[in-house]
Amino acid sequence: MKIIHSCAEMRGYSLAARRAGLSLGLVPTMGALHDGHLSLLKTAARHCDNTVMSIFVNPTQFGPQEDFDRYPRRIERDSELAEAAGCGCLFAPSVEDMYPEGYDTYVNVENITDALCGANRTGHFRGVATVVLKLLNIVSPDIAVFGAKDAQQVIVVRRMVRDLHLPVLIIAAPTVREPDGLAMSSRNSYLSSNERAEAPIIYKALTEAQKLYNSGENIAESIKNRIVSILAQSRLLKPEYVEIVDTVRVKPIGKIKVPVLAAAACRTTETGTRLIDNIVLGGSL
Ligand code: PAF
Repeated sequence: MKIIHSCAEMRGYSLAARRAGLSLGLVPTMGALHDGHLSLLKTAARHCDNTVMSIFVNPTQFGPQEDFDRYPRRIERDSELAEAAGCGCLFAPSVEDMYPEGYDTYVNVENITDALCGANRTGHFRGVATVVLKLLNIVSPDIAVFGAKDAQQVIVVRRMVRDLHLPVLIIAAPTVREPDGLAMSSRNSYLSSNERAEAPIIYKALTEAQKLYNSGENIAESIKNRIVSILAQSRLLKPEYVEIVDTVRVKPIGKIKVPVLAAAACRTTETGTRLIDNIVLGGSL
């Protein structure tokens, strides 16, 4: 596996792959890899000849009070895992190369970033859209794979790709879960053991919502109430939001007719860790 740290070298690698007639996939990550990330590599490998995984803890998507400084950084372990999972090239640029002094350009995807995580993390999706556009420009992949756990991120990236005519296909890969249902996340490592024991309640609540929907309930408020009432049983997880929204405008809906996203974010009380999860009712992302 090739390891590249400079944006210029990354461009050269992509150009050479393209000239050799190889299709390229990109798996953008912030590292601290877990099985969820490795499954994104496997999804990419099904769609293209060679896969680039980027590892970059992107400062512009973290708020001033957020965990940028303590976000886990494990580049050596990550490169071993990525290589074993069939990654062709690991791209790990520096902050200075990505955001040189005097950096002034940002991408703002409007409206759909006002809800859910966007409402609670001001500027987060501006940072995500900006770095994803930069990575797409540097790597020029044919496809890019994102995890469905960050459903709003997938919707935002797809909107940016459509609106800016970017020549790339965005693929959403299913959320990978721990045996007890907790969605895999690099932030799970922040959890205290008591919090970890309670954390699967988020997926339990979403699964109950799915059952309610499958039994014929199509009033979004009733489904939301079921999720809220299950989460209320937790002592250590406090909901930041529970929403049932459509997957196009990301707006709350009344009656469920189209695929909808049932999404929840909780903050834990001992370590202040933010956990998100979702399921799509009546379709997929
Ligand atoms: O999902 C993530 O890890 C990040 O938001 C991403 C897409 C790599 C952009 O920094």
